[in-house]
Amino acid sequence: MRNQLFARKPLKMLLEEMAGEHRLRRVLGPWQLTALGIGAIIGTGIFVLTGVAAHDKVGPALTLSFMVAGAACIFAALCYAEFASMVPVAGSAYTYAYATLGELFAWIIGWDLVLEYGVASATVAHGWSHYFQDFIGIFGLKLPHVFTNAPFDFDPTTGLLVATGTLFDLPALVISLLMTVVLVVGIQESARVNAAMVVVKLAVVLFVIVVGAFYIDPQNWVPFAPYGYTGISIFGHTLMGQTGPAGEPLGVLAGAGTIFFAYIGFDAVSTQAEEARNPQRDVPIGLMASLVLCTILYIAVAAVLTGMVPYDKINVDAPVSDAFRQAGLPWAQLLISVGALTGITSVLLVLMLSQPRVFLAMARDGLLPKSFFGAVHERYQTPWKSTILTGIFVGLMGALIPLRVLAELVNIGTLLAFVIVCAAVLVMRRVNPDTPRPFRCPMVPLVPILGIGFCLLLMFSLPSENWLRLFVWLGIGFVIYFAYGRHHSVLAMSSRRGV
Ligand code: ALA
Repeated sequence: MRNQLFARKPLKMLLEEMAGEHRLRRVLGPWQLTALGIGAIIGTGIFVLTGVAAHDKVGPALTLSFMVAGAACIFAALCYAEFASMVPVAGSAYTYAYATLGELFAWIIGWDLVLEYGVASATVAHGWSHYFQDFIGIFGLKLPHVFTNAPFDFDPTTGLLVATGTLFDLPALVISLLMTVVLVVGIQESARVNAAMVVVKLAVVLFVIVVGAFYIDPQNWVPFAPYGYTGISIFGHTLMGQTGPAGEPLGVLAGAGTIFFAYIGFDAVSTQAEEARNPQRDVPIGLMASLVLCTILYIAVAAVLTGMVPYDKINVDAPVSDAFRQAGLPWAQLLISVGALTGITSVLLVLMLSQPRVFLAMARDGLLPKSFFGAVHERYQTPWKSTILTGIFVGLMGALIPLRVLAELVNIGTLLAFVIVCAAVLVMRRVNPDTPRPFRCPMVPLVPILGIGFCLLLMFSLPSENWLRLFVWLGIGFVIYFAYGRHHSVLAMSSRRGV
């Protein structure tokens, strides 16, 4: 039993599998992969979360928070890129963990990726709905109240659930189902839809930076870090920095923990490795190019936003478009709403694209039922059953569940995945030192160790309840693994048969 939990999937087996049947279609080139990365990255984080972070946690030092979170992601991305070039299969971090740390870790990470892709998609669908309602509001249109929101919400001041007087969030449900249709029809079609949306949102982000720069008042950057430069707490005990009304850490690091959400998604490129024409070269390019570009854009947007509006006057719901309203450019508000809506749609598309591909890898290994999660559509060559299941899950969660709690859970879960991938690079270099690595993470062990350190720092700068939620989530995962995966694991069965 102990052996099975820590059994590693031999690299040779992975490479052999890649040549087998039931593969996905290899159609994506470096531009499409980079566009998929940008598609997954720029969305709710920059258009919405910057407001809460600047207003409540950091102040003008938000630019530093973006640098810290960006550094954590760049270290992790270098580790992802090494793995993606070695084993370009659909499972991403899940597969890397199986090959290095063993089956139990692989399961933990696969289950954890459901947080990153599935639950994050639901969060994003919810955000899409709010921007959509704002957008139609510009034209004087309004949805019936019962279809505007989840039926209940979490009140952070009392810690209680309160009724919202609605039935469900109709736009969140509709957009999730629409994206599901695009995703089932084909990877190439999905990549094309994504590329068009990426062009629109990049244009809007550049507009914000270039036009906004003319409205910066340097006085707004003083004081630069009103909440301090730190903000670390271990399980609710503040170690460094100020605390907020609910005991949550404040400061540059705490802000970085929150806006980390803005970077989530770059690793989605690695889940599309199996559909890349030349994965060994192009997946590392897609990962790094999309991340570095978005990091630069984010730092610039943060500088412009906090320069345009005093941090305590930044709007927490629609910070970027409201900054232009405050600057006396109401027409820009419409433009930015379009960019935000498009941006959030492409995030949803790519995150919902990634989830079924992780399930696919887990099903091939027997940890999930293969007939369902491993089914690839004959004509479209997409993992259609699990794509539809993901769409229904995301649509229902986005429509019915208040997502405040889940959004932070997404951050801590993703950070955990990054820690494991960085650790896995260190293990792989020892266990399989001679396997060809078309892309090598530079300065090993320094870069992976820095990746682990930065990600842990951000995990400890999130409010403490998140750790509890993460443990509950992992506990549910353990139950499923011990009830199903352990008994159906292909690796365990083949070693029992002595293969
Ligand atoms: N990074 C993605 C976003 O900000 C998840 O929407």
